[in-house]
Amino acid sequence: MTALTLSTAAASGLRADAIVIGVAKGAKGPVVAPGAEAVAKAYDGSLAGVLETLGASGAEGEVTKLPAPSGFKAPLVVAVGLGPEPDKDANGAPFDAEALRKAAGSAARALTGAKKAAFALPVGDASDVAAIGEGVLLGAYSFDTYKETAPKNARSGNGNGKAPLAEAALLGAKPRDKEHKAALERATAVAEELNRARDLINTPPNDLDPAAFAAIAQAAAKEHGIKVQVLDEKALEKGGYGGILGVGAGSASGPRLVKLSYTSSKAKKHLAFVGKGITYDSGGISLKPAGHNETMKCDMSGAAAVFAAVISAARLGLEVNVTGWLALAENMPSGSATRPGDVLRMYSGKTVEVLNTDAEGRLVLADALWAASQEKPDAVVDVATLTGAMVLALGSRTFGIMANDDAFRSAVHEAAEEVGEPAWQMPLPEHLRKGMDSPTADIANMGERMGGGLVAGLFLREFVGEGITWAHLDIAGPAFNEGGPFGYTPKGGTGTAVRTLVRLAELTASGDLG
Ligand code: BES
Ligand code: MN
Ligand code: ZN
Repeated sequence: MTALTLSTAAASGLRADAIVIGVAKGAKGPVVAPGAEAVAKAYDGSLAGVLETLGASGAEGEVTKLPAPSGFKAPLVVAVGLGPEPDKDANGAPFDAEALRKAAGSAARALTGAKKAAFALPVGDASDVAAIGEGVLLGAYSFDTYKETAPKNARSGNGNGKAPLAEAALLGAKPRDKEHKAALERATAVAEELNRARDLINTPPNDLDPAAFAAIAQAAAKEHGIKVQVLDEKALEKGGYGGILGVGAGSASGPRLVKLSYTSSKAKKHLAFVGKGITYDSGGISLKPAGHNETMKCDMSGAAAVFAAVISAARLGLEVNVTGWLALAENMPSGSATRPGDVLRMYSGKTVEVLNTDAEGRLVLADALWAASQEKPDAVVDVATLTGAMVLALGSRTFGIMANDDAFRSAVHEAAEEVGEPAWQMPLPEHLRKGMDSPTADIANMGERMGGGLVAGLFLREFVGEGITWAHLDIAGPAFNEGGPFGYTPKGGTGTAVRTLVRLAELTASGDLG
């Protein structure tokens, strides 16, 4: 990962491949953002005009490259768009953290192949340092594990065959300022774990089966002093986890339930995070058609997010207990697979008639939610690439939030907004429940087609323990970016929900949530 440093050095004297500056979209054209005063001055006041001549407007995501002014050690200036200029009368209002994060990410992506860049973006307080740091580390991400023929040391999953930016110095941030340092450390810890989650999502399913994922979780837990427990097929059988076993029944790679317990001696609250971890979703006997299965290695994104969030909580030493549950299985068709028509006896004791084996996520989550509920946590949040219906409803960048408590749903939404993860609150309409009535079992795993994301949420609600506050994040849209990279979001696994979960843990620790 890119190495981040804080620096008070002057931009002109820095030995770097490039200086990154911010450009905002002003009413009358591009405006050079604060932080780049020294750079602008070296162009003798012509910088905004030069940028305009080059076609720059200051729009979000825009990258304009120009030769550095004479006297600068760095040869190149990279001007990155910050979007609309903030209101002047708001007393020199700072740029929105998400605008800084996105701009830093776009610049980092434009600098692949470079060894070192200095970022002279506007820094107000420590939260700006965190946003820029996060944007750089997340934007510079590339997945190159499986690139064998690209030139040595220049392998990259970012499509241009160049290595990611190696080093970034954040100018305007103060290396001796305690808050700036803490902000950088937090950004680094979370970005590192988030990028690890992206690696897991991008790893092909022939290399990441439930046992492999569990082994990685075990090793990481050990490294960070987290208690870990892995239930294999035998243990799941003994415990009566019919949902997880039913989904994993068709695969040659057996299912696992991983429990990660991070505890703090100063904790007053306990959060449980539950992740859907289908390492590959073929649909099972209700096989997905071609065109709907090539990206289904991403169906463990929820478990990857939970995993990253628990490790982050430990690295940050948050004063809250966080238990992560990874419900891992591979959904495959075979002679031993669960059939449409089978009835599963779930961990909760309820029976489920499986009408469609492609509605498998709710089955593994049901067992994990019930298991999580047994510890009576203050709240449970599950994260899952659960339904195509949620993608139709909210598109590919926004996740849906459902909950059994209005205040908690709003709190989760606020946390998501705070960290820059687009999300929207969705209802759980009671009338949709009867569509899942089964003539044979307590409930069926499918209901009405319309509102399929909400139906799935209603199914999960049945497996949350009595009186436990619960929220469900359906991340099927934003978990995996099939389009081109944007801002700090790469192609492929995105790591969506990691930062929302970490923020929820922080807010719970500080007593600002529930
Ligand atoms: N993993 C899929 C949902 C999904 C779709 C994730 C697109 C990411 C992108 C899930 O297991 C699934 O197949 N859901 C079905 C449910 C249906 C059979 C009730 C769906 O949404 O079609
Ligand atoms: Mn499915
Ligand atoms: Zn699935």
